[in-house]
Amino acid sequence: MNTKINFYDLTGMTAIVTGAGIGKAAALTLASAGANIVAIGRTQETIDQTALEARKFGIKSIGVKCNITSDEDLNNLIDITLKEMGQINILVNNVGGGGGGREKFQRLTKEYIEKIYNLNLFSIFTLSKLCVPHMIKSKYGSIINISSMAGEMATPNMSVYGSSKAAINQLTKYMAVDLGPIIRVNAIAPGAIRTAALESVLTPEIEKKMLAKTPLKTLGEASDIGMGILYFASPMSKWVSGQVLAINGGGIQELD
Ligand SMILES: NC(=O)c1ccc[n+]([C@@H]2O[C@H](COP(=O)([O-])OP(=O)(O)OC[C@H]3O[C@@H](n4cnc5c(N)ncnc54)[C@H](O)[C@@H]3O)[C@@H](O)[C@H]2O)c1
Repeated sequence: MNTKINFYDLTGMTAIVTGAGIGKAAALTLASAGANIVAIGRTQETIDQTALEARKFGIKSIGVKCNITSDEDLNNLIDITLKEMGQINILVNNVGGGGGGREKFQRLTKEYIEKIYNLNLFSIFTLSKLCVPHMIKSKYGSIINISSMAGEMATPNMSVYGSSKAAINQLTKYMAVDLGPIIRVNAIAPGAIRTAALESVLTPEIEKKMLAKTPLKTLGEASDIGMGILYFASPMSKWVSGQVLAINGGGIQELD
């Protein structure tokens, strides 16, 4: 190979990224590699801010207000994306919630379980299904599902969140089998990442205990996940599909 090739170059591709915590870092990282960005979330102001910052990389970017659990909103999202961007190549299924060590098993209600599974798991089925035909049409598809270390470990009071994330890991492998060869599907299992979601449950004592079991001796930043997402989104990983990558400072961060 004599010429320089930028395997991270996403110029001209369109990425849909859901959520504004890790999602914002993902959107900005993909934008820095040249991708056009469709940022989605619940609050127009927040996603408009992500879209504005992404445009500083000289790409096209829009924010679409969308409830990830609403089929109507997701159909509308696809219509807007195609109208504004013309194609869909990359999907980052990042929105998720629940857990936080608050899920006392005996107090779980069917409504709560359905809510978390709708948010974390069923939304991935629905939005991915809507994007797949357009990825095939464009001849380039990469879907990145954001899981969690909670999908691999078992810690107290996380059964709904953790089991939904374990399902995402296995779903990722099945999607990779069903959607190849044009579409690659991979997942990232973050450890503790400094976002609003983590800050709501983090105390100095918990952080100290987490760092004791983390060889790299810091908690993660959203940009650490953004860089893993860029790897899976770009041709750098063109022969990688069906994988779950743990990005966790080399260790385990538990709330309890
Ligand atoms: N932060 C961590 O330590 C950590 C660790 C492991 C896994 N994760 C996973 O990473 C992903 C992102 O987490 P985060 O820390 O950025 O969370 P966050 O709470 O900071 O951000 C989540 C975003 O999702 C949006 N959102 C929530 N419900 C929505 C809905 N129904 N429709 C559209 N948007 C909705 C919120 O508005 C918010 O912008 C989640 O799947 C989470 O489970 C996070």
